[in-house]
Amino acid sequence: AQQTREQWGTRAGFLMAAIGSAVGLGNIWRFPYIAYENGGGAFMVPYLVALLTAGIPLLILEYSIGHRYRSSAPLSYRRISRPTEAIGWWQVAICFVIAIYYGAIIAWSSSYVWFSITGAWGEDPNAFFFGDYLQMSEAPGGITGYVPAVAWPLIAVWIVVLAILALGVRNGIEKANKVFIPLLVVLFLILVVQALTLDGATTGLNALFTPDWSAMADGSVWVAAYGQIFFSLSIGFGIMVTYASYLKRKADLTGSAMVAGFANSSFELLAGIGVFAALGFMATAAGTAVDEVATSGIGLAFIAFPQIISTLPFGGALFGVLFFASLVIAGLTSLISIVEVVVSAVQDRVGLGRLQAVLIVGGLIALVSILIFPTHQGLHYLDVFDHFINQYGIVLAALVMLIVFGWVLRRLPAFQEHANSVSSIRLGRWWRITLAVVTPVLLGFMMWDALRTELTENYAGYPTGFLLTAGWGVAIGAIVVGAVIALVPWKRADQMAAHDRE
Ligand code: PHE
Ligand code: NA
Repeated sequence: AQQTREQWGTRAGFLMAAIGSAVGLGNIWRFPYIAYENGGGAFMVPYLVALLTAGIPLLILEYSIGHRYRSSAPLSYRRISRPTEAIGWWQVAICFVIAIYYGAIIAWSSSYVWFSITGAWGEDPNAFFFGDYLQMSEAPGGITGYVPAVAWPLIAVWIVVLAILALGVRNGIEKANKVFIPLLVVLFLILVVQALTLDGATTGLNALFTPDWSAMADGSVWVAAYGQIFFSLSIGFGIMVTYASYLKRKADLTGSAMVAGFANSSFELLAGIGVFAALGFMATAAGTAVDEVATSGIGLAFIAFPQIISTLPFGGALFGVLFFASLVIAGLTSLISIVEVVVSAVQDRVGLGRLQAVLIVGGLIALVSILIFPTHQGLHYLDVFDHFINQYGIVLAALVMLIVFGWVLRRLPAFQEHANSVSSIRLGRWWRITLAVVTPVLLGFMMWDALRTELTENYAGYPTGFLLTAGWGVAIGAIVVGAVIALVPWKRADQMAAHDRE
């Protein structure tokens, strides 16, 4: 007998999990700087256009596929058309790679919750982060040394993630998100209020929001807007297919996509306010312009924020705890969704129960993560994996998926009909046009643009040999792995298909 598929307990539970997946490090440390760099207040126009013409339509597409076929990404695609199963395994491989390094950033952030209290970074947060804490080697490549101060929090992160996944969709993923997301909102709101009281907060906000309308005529600003929407909504690599496969038959797909899309953007906007208020304080205290201190990513979280925390006249420890705890929580809920893609695919493939699948698959992901990232070369790997798997994994997989489903198989009308049969907001022709035309054109342009830069200069100045193995090797490896797994005969799926036909 077939096991019945796990299900979300409530619609709110599914929404919390979908929002939890979308709201991640990208909202906090990527959006504010991207907006600042690309026209400030004027960036909101291309950003909203990207949300409405690519983000939400793609969310709806993934929800519809997951809900219609009630399976993980590879099996859902196989049911659409057998060869497209390969795209699903490619996405699973991408999730594997993202998961191993995403966990490391969460581990660092959890160390920094504690360091905010002890002020461990002293006078020089830069030297502390790269030297004392990560013990990073100058040269990339190879694997040497092992840093227990990074390994322990990383092990703890993986235990938490695997424990939540082992508890299942309803008792693990849903419950965790129902606690984590409200908690994240509360912590982050307190952080923003504290940031707004700082000297120079308005300077920071002016720097972020003053519109530069000329930016709207700049193609690269539009590319940045679509890039942020893609990254931020975690679309194009199977996460939303997986989460939607646990929905009940009656589910408002389009309405949920609107809620999740706008919730994620609201959180980005909130983060922009908090981060730039803090950067305004930092610039004011140092007597420089905001332009001198504005950064994103690792530099923002582990260098600039520690500086801000140390400079605060009072409440520095609280500010640091709020900031790094927000990173930990936002990151955890995203990591859970990434690992679930792999777990769910393997469950469907070999018919394992959840606990075994989590222990074997999740255990393997955790092991690889724990072996690579606490070494002296960990950050180099993280940097290059992240760049290549985003550009030539996520973006490329989304492009291939749209071309195959939209043009080769011409399935968009069928998906539209499915979404309309259960949803509150009905999809019209515009939905197919955005997915078949607007989004592929933009994704294609993004790919071409990225490739051109890639071939003119080595990413971040890394040696070619390292980029060929850790960068191209991993990105192309994900494609090869996807294709190879899809070539292996899959008896269960054929039996299930026969069963469905009866
Ligand atoms: N969308 C998340 C963010 O904005 C990042 C993420 C990447 C989530 C990959 C899941 C998978 O930070
Ligand atoms: Na996001």
